Amino acid sequence: MITPNTHYADLKDSYLFYNIAQKTQAYVAAHPGTRLLRMGIGDVSLPLCEVVIKALHEAVDDQAAKDTFHGYMPECGWPFLRETIAGHYAKRGVAVGADEVFVSSGASDELGDILDLFDRGSSALVVEPAYPAYVDANVMAGRKTVHLPSGEDNGFLPEPGADAKADLIYICSPNNPTGAVFDREKLRRWVDFANENGSVILFDAAYEAFIEDPALPRSIFEIDGARTCAIEICSLSKTAGFTGTRLGYTVIPRELVRGGMRFNDMWVRNRTTKTNGVSYIIQKGGAAVFTDEGQAQIAENIRYYKENARILMRALDGLGIWYCGGKNAPYIWLKCPGGMGSWELFDLLLSEVQVVGTPGEGFGACGAGYFRLSTFGDRDETVEAAARLTKLLGK
Ligand code: MLT
Repeated sequence: MITPNTHYADLKDSYLFYNIAQKTQAYVAAHPGTRLLRMGIGDVSLPLCEVVIKALHEAVDDQAAKDTFHGYMPECGWPFLRETIAGHYAKRGVAVGADEVFVSSGASDELGDILDLFDRGSSALVVEPAYPAYVDANVMAGRKTVHLPSGEDNGFLPEPGADAKADLIYICSPNNPTGAVFDREKLRRWVDFANENGSVILFDAAYEAFIEDPALPRSIFEIDGARTCAIEICSLSKTAGFTGTRLGYTVIPRELVRGGMRFNDMWVRNRTTKTNGVSYIIQKGGAAVFTDEGQAQIAENIRYYKENARILMRALDGLGIWYCGGKNAPYIWLKCPGGMGSWELFDLLLSEVQVVGTPGEGFGACGAGYFRLSTFGDRDETVEAAARLTKLLGK
């Protein structure tokens, strides 16, 4: 009889966002006709921008004619898109080769898949509170996870140190869920630490487009030394509304070598074995994001979400509730009022005002007592949620 991967038994019963969806569905089933205001999972509410839709339509037409039809795509990405993304980095003064860019079907898939590059006996450090898939993907592989807690005392931006030693280091900046962003100096300390210890940083840059402070790094490759210790994982999900369309990219510098093995070559070997590439149609839509027109149109959508953030932050200010994030990130991380537990606040908001958020505990133990609000919602719903929160919590 085949032996299952017994590490699955070490996982929590269900995944955070699945758990929230189940609770929410149960509430709706018991209260038909309820209008829920969804500020939970960070799913976008605006449609794809015009220039992307046009490119997607053109790509469908290309597939209808023998001369323009595309079959299998190159496994590591359409060369035109890899060049385009390298050019996008160059515009920001970051030198990345097209052969260092790998097109993916999204950051969450990639964050799991990339673990194939590392020995199962290696350890993974997760700065918490953290996106729960970092831990779960490593638990599934039987890898040892080290949890580095962060808190208000260090602005949710912990320093490397003896308690932070691991082979793989996850850094998400702007952070999901806290919205904290590493500045250059703080990020440099992690880069130096990783180089000194032979670790590899998996830098999750899914929210880089929300950084508005020009002094803050949007890519780890803006930091000297990162090319010998980091892999950057990016996504068009939040940047350009591709949550349901699926497209991302990963940068693996050629200098990243451990034990005489080059991770870039290994990833080529992996992709050419395990995928047949991302759909031509989607890659063509993705390429449109990087045109001047595309950049202007996605900036408009990001401004919309930032206005949502301001609406929610004004409500929290009015209530005197402590929070961070919301400025350089699309998440607001607030302290549960009155010493409430985070699931307690979740249940209260769902049952009393039908606002769905994410309990901080779902992002690790040090998230207890905190709560995350997503700013990706619809404007009217965000205004309504702010009003309902003010009414309920201002009592
Ligand atoms: C979140 O809400 O944390 C994210 O949307 C989840 C994801 O990107 O998969």
